[in-house]
Amino acid sequence: MDTQLLIKKFHEIFPVEGQEEVRIFFSPGRINLIGEHTDYNGGHVFPGAITYGTYGAVKKRDDQVIKLYSINFPDQGSIECSLNEMDYRKEHGWANYPKGVIRYIQDKYGLLKSGLDILIQGNIPNGAGLSSSASLEMLMGIMINEMFDLNMDRIELVKLGKKVENEFIGVNSGIMDQFAVGMGKADCGILLDCNTLKFEYAPLDLDGYDIVIMNTNKRRELADSKYNERRRECEKALSRLQTALDIHELGDLSEKEFEASKHLIADETLMKRARHAVYENQRTLKALHALRRGEMKTFGKLMNDSHHSLRDDYEVTGKELDTLVEAAWKHEGVLGARMTGAGFGGCAIAIVASDRVEDFIQRVGKEYLEKIGYKADFYVAKIGDGAKEITKEVV
Ligand code: GLA
Repeated sequence: MDTQLLIKKFHEIFPVEGQEEVRIFFSPGRINLIGEHTDYNGGHVFPGAITYGTYGAVKKRDDQVIKLYSINFPDQGSIECSLNEMDYRKEHGWANYPKGVIRYIQDKYGLLKSGLDILIQGNIPNGAGLSSSASLEMLMGIMINEMFDLNMDRIELVKLGKKVENEFIGVNSGIMDQFAVGMGKADCGILLDCNTLKFEYAPLDLDGYDIVIMNTNKRRELADSKYNERRRECEKALSRLQTALDIHELGDLSEKEFEASKHLIADETLMKRARHAVYENQRTLKALHALRRGEMKTFGKLMNDSHHSLRDDYEVTGKELDTLVEAAWKHEGVLGARMTGAGFGGCAIAIVASDRVEDFIQRVGKEYLEKIGYKADFYVAKIGDGAKEITKEVV
């Protein structure tokens, strides 16, 4: 991303008089290597921030107005709200995310001292399940924190981003996305225990392999309602297990404990949802262990098992993701492949031998086009840092 171009655009949208300081912030998207639909079940996840993300240029205003403009949604034009009007409005579309962040920050720290002009531009493929919404939330969080010297702790900002998603937007998601976006570190995955928020960085030394992101380009319609439904199913399964077991979350169970008690769930669908949550959590721990020992084949196999479980037990993959992942599995340069994120469309990832990446993209792309009728997109992922300020420019 060319920050000079962003500043130029900033001046077009928000003309400045005299010399003014424009600050630029960046917030990444994320992929999840393994540990899917485990975060809200008190389990582990293993995501990393990517170098695609959302940029924000900002300067203070002399009044109490927030003006928001996104280069990605030019039709919406500039959205203006007074600082004391930070409520959800359907017609504000994407701008509800920044509004939610400002609203909850103000709830805690009082009205901001001034308004802001904010220009946003993102290069995360739209609706691809790479957490463009968490990216925007964390961008706004660090921006407001820095612009007004609020000294908010990173984890506090992560939790605030999740609250925006859950309460302001209405998607009952877990903590993984905001955590990965806020706490990411270049070339590292983050093993996060979503129950305690204890985490550790694990260097992603993939030794001759690349992570390839494969975008189905399928629009994630109904994804949010299906997501909330999965969450409710897990809660039901948990409460049935709790009639006999002293557990707080599905993530508290080992595979053995689950197998011994699964009859308590009675309903087949709920049993399958819970089985995924329990086994996927254990797989995530095994995957980190394999990575640490350099056992890359095992790591790849665990990724494949994760996809099977998401397809058969959790039922969140769908034809497009399955076609991509199954085509990837057939390629001899692939160690492992699986969907990443919530599912129902969006992206999958594959670990591919670096010298086979081109051939991989060509072959998997061809098979997908033939079977699905439109093309998939491919990106070689680089694991980057979490949200941060990138420049201050006086212009
Ligand atoms: C979405 C949610 C996350 C997580 C994943 C599935 O990305 O925002 O909290 O639940 O789905 O692992």
